Amino acid sequence: MRGQIEFFFSPRTVVVVGASRKPGKVGYELLRNLREMFRGVLYAVNPEAREILGVPCYPNLASIPEDIDVAVVSVPAEKVLEVAEEAGKKGVKGLIVISGGFKEVGAEGLEREKKLIEIVKKYGMRLIGPNCVGVYVPKTGMNTLFLSKERQGYPTHGFIAFASQSGAFGSAVLDWAAMRGIGISKFVSYGNKADVDEVDVLLYLKNDEDTRVITLYIEGIENGAEFFKVLGEVTKYKPVVVLKSGRTEAGARAASSHTGSLAGSDSIYDAVFKQSGAIRAYSMEELFDLAMGLAMQPPAAGERVVVLTVGGGSGVMATDALSELGLKVPKLSDSTVSKLRKILLPFASPYNPVDVTGSAVDEHLVEAIDILLTSEDQIDAVMWLPYYMVPGITPELNKKFLERVKKVFRETNRVVPIVGVATGGSYTAIYAKEAESMGIPMYVSPERAAKVIKALVDYGRWLKRTGYFDYHIEKFRRTFLTH
Ligand code: COA
Repeated sequence: MRGQIEFFFSPRTVVVVGASRKPGKVGYELLRNLREMFRGVLYAVNPEAREILGVPCYPNLASIPEDIDVAVVSVPAEKVLEVAEEAGKKGVKGLIVISGGFKEVGAEGLEREKKLIEIVKKYGMRLIGPNCVGVYVPKTGMNTLFLSKERQGYPTHGFIAFASQSGAFGSAVLDWAAMRGIGISKFVSYGNKADVDEVDVLLYLKNDEDTRVITLYIEGIENGAEFFKVLGEVTKYKPVVVLKSGRTEAGARAASSHTGSLAGSDSIYDAVFKQSGAIRAYSMEELFDLAMGLAMQPPAAGERVVVLTVGGGSGVMATDALSELGLKVPKLSDSTVSKLRKILLPFASPYNPVDVTGSAVDEHLVEAIDILLTSEDQIDAVMWLPYYMVPGITPELNKKFLERVKKVFRETNRVVPIVGVATGGSYTAIYAKEAESMGIPMYVSPERAAKVIKALVDYGRWLKRTGYFDYHIEKFRRTFLTH
């Protein structure tokens, strides 16, 4: 049963129990979102209505003339057990309980939650929540968030899955991801995780073809041994980036009153994340910075990084940032330096960082990357800092650069991750976005890009240790080189 939760993400039939007739109420906005986005069959349950927002409405689950995959429950906590019992009798496969008023509110809520689990088990159902916002899947339009489209952005389909214990934070991140243009494969907020928890989600996403990278926001793990065992298995196949809060004593106290989670000692979590191959992020931006990089680039085989830049200052900052993270920015061999010298301007710097200067034209970057990728120096990763605003760089740069990179990757046996930095304003942002659409993740500062390279190095080390490195390189070659 663990991980068998596909029906929550691609249901055929969904019913909202507690659908409201009044705009602005949770049960109304939830139904409105589903009505606008969901591509399956939708029903509502409300004893007072025959139809809401054009959706057929029934007084109870029993009177719906069809089998139901998922019931989204949005009635006050004291009515949830009765609804769950009804759902069980009706043969509903899964419940998503949005309602709060369970474990997170103390003894009475805990008792109610235990009874809810009993009912769910008795009928062989699965349960997401309670105290959650549920799921959002752009591909199927399954959306149980109660935040209206006017106030909340919903990302398009993409390759990053995001699972969040917190509903509000999860929703805010979705909103931000939509604005930032980051696509999502699956989103799930499981709140008190009375049944479906991180283990189910990890096992499910491991086999989900739309998901390349899994991101998790967690406050605490109850079943540590099982979680870390599964985590260590999943990370062989897909990178998992974890944002774990409740790191401080006060933060742990806050986590306990938020979702009733025991945050536990942070240093233990840290050690076990490392031992399981997970990558730890420390903020929302970092979670997605790392996820984008890990989704778009291959793992690094080692820690030797070359910096290829149009700006000298950024090259220095990049070198500092990489070195501070324990990565190497090694001197290049004499033969590489002399090859670079031949194609670069006389005042360019052919060392590492390779600085093509503000007088550079596209070809300097294109020829330099060719030399670097094929050099005897066996570099493991590239930080690329094109300054799109300099006069000699044309709007064709990304295309020419990517074509050359792909040509070299095709002709050699080796691929290395390339992570870009584009510091600047609106003109720069246009080309950074273009580079991303072509497969190179771009960041606004060398410091952020350096953390991504560090994650690719750490992930590469883990994959080498577990014997899955070549599997990932092959997968990357198949996706990157065919687009
Ligand atoms: N079956 C179906 N519908 C029922 C029902 C039942 N047994 N009993 C009542 N209803 C209807 C109500 O008539 C109402 O519809 P109406 O507005 O058209 O009259 C609707 O269901 C909702 O019930 P109501 O009593 O008005 O509840 P509410 O909307 O005030 O609150 C919750 C319900 C679930 C939103 C609220 O209890 C709650 O838990 N809020 C917190 C949600 C949250 O933060 N979740 C976690 C996010 S991270």
